[in-house]
Amino acid sequence: MALAVGSESLDNLRVTEPIVDQFERPLRDLRVSVTDRCNFRCRYCMPREVFGESYEFLPRRAILRFEEIQRVVRIAAELGVRKVRITGGEPLLRRDLPQLVSMLAQIEGIELALTTNGSLLAQQAEALAEAGLERVTVSLDSLDDDVFRLMNDAEFAVAQVLEGIEAAAAAGLAPIKINAVVQRGVNDDSVVDLARHFKGSGQVMRFIEFMDVGTTNQWRPEDVCSGAEIVERVTAEFPAEPIEPAYRGEVAKRWRYADGEGEFGVITSVTQPFCGDCTRARLSAEGVLYTCLFAAEGTDLRDTLRSGGSDKTLRTLLAGIWSSREDRYSERRFEDGKPLSRIEMSYIGG
Ligand code: GTP
Ligand code: 5AD
Ligand code: SF4
Ligand code: SF4
Repeated sequence: MALAVGSESLDNLRVTEPIVDQFERPLRDLRVSVTDRCNFRCRYCMPREVFGESYEFLPRRAILRFEEIQRVVRIAAELGVRKVRITGGEPLLRRDLPQLVSMLAQIEGIELALTTNGSLLAQQAEALAEAGLERVTVSLDSLDDDVFRLMNDAEFAVAQVLEGIEAAAAAGLAPIKINAVVQRGVNDDSVVDLARHFKGSGQVMRFIEFMDVGTTNQWRPEDVCSGAEIVERVTAEFPAEPIEPAYRGEVAKRWRYADGEGEFGVITSVTQPFCGDCTRARLSAEGVLYTCLFAAEGTDLRDTLRSGGSDKTLRTLLAGIWSSREDRYSERRFEDGKPLSRIEMSYIGG
């Protein structure tokens, strides 16, 4: 049975029953951003007009050190976290990342994954796998170089990402998930090509509805290509049937190709939100913990980490944050009273 834990009752908490939030959702996933920088400028995430020359990224001293991240992850694992995803910005820009991976791999009971834009993956896949990384998810929005460049706004070619995916597969980081954000009128024509390319490859292609994360990407409801439409387009070409989620709370809805050549998925956070099963917390590169991708505010852990706070203090802090959580932004998206300031995806990761 899951147990809701108030902060006072945590004094002797070690590896116990999982904590749950105000809606009985356990804390299962922790996404750890290791940098707010990126070498892409995807218009749906870091538009160059905002994240250009004069943008102030976090200074080095503000960013958590590997030991600090390891400590937060270890304590989160004690509170029930089973999956840790390293994100950014672009996480492969963080120096010595394999060292962090090996430090996190020492923590018992967690699966270790990473989300990347793939541009530096060919060079790093082997070292990451050797350090103990288990899985990668690679973002790739189109196979057409013109469309891809228009979206990443940074002159990266599709071939470079495909090489990264190959290298990751060769290093044993398979099956790899490939994520494409679909924007109507920008890359919706790339959907079927992407499905075709990864069908039968052992990798899983997933299409994501363009979301209103942050405040800078000029999101409009009419730019969203719905999961239903994506499924229609793919299955018109390649018949497929819906299948059960791989685990409770999986964000993607899965479709299996009728010819046995694998599956694809759609992530419908706009048209069919999945907050009811949301078990994810997010740690920013500077050590702020957020309980929703759309949060306006989080709780700083860095001060506690750097001022000699004990494990018990940290555990109490984390458990208190989670147990009072009430977030369900995607389910309330179209209600009045949207928070005016929201964190950016590049700051908190995918
Ligand atoms: P695995 O199942 O472990 O492979 O990963 P995942 O599907 O949980 O995570 P992934 O990071 O690949 O998520 C894919 C995309 O789904 C993200 O980039 C977001 O666009 C979206 N997404 C993930 N988690 C959330 C969430 O909690 N809320 C919302 N609204 N969107 C999310
Ligand atoms: N909508 C949906 N997904 C987004 N991502 C970034 N911005 C958005 C957005 N506006 C996700 C993509 C990308 C990952 C790093 O973050 O999945 O692959
Ligand atoms: Fe694009 Fe990911 Fe970089 Fe955002 S963090 S600009 S989605 S590559
Ligand atoms: Fe979880 Fe917030 Fe996303 Fe809902 S909107 S699924 S609560 S992160």
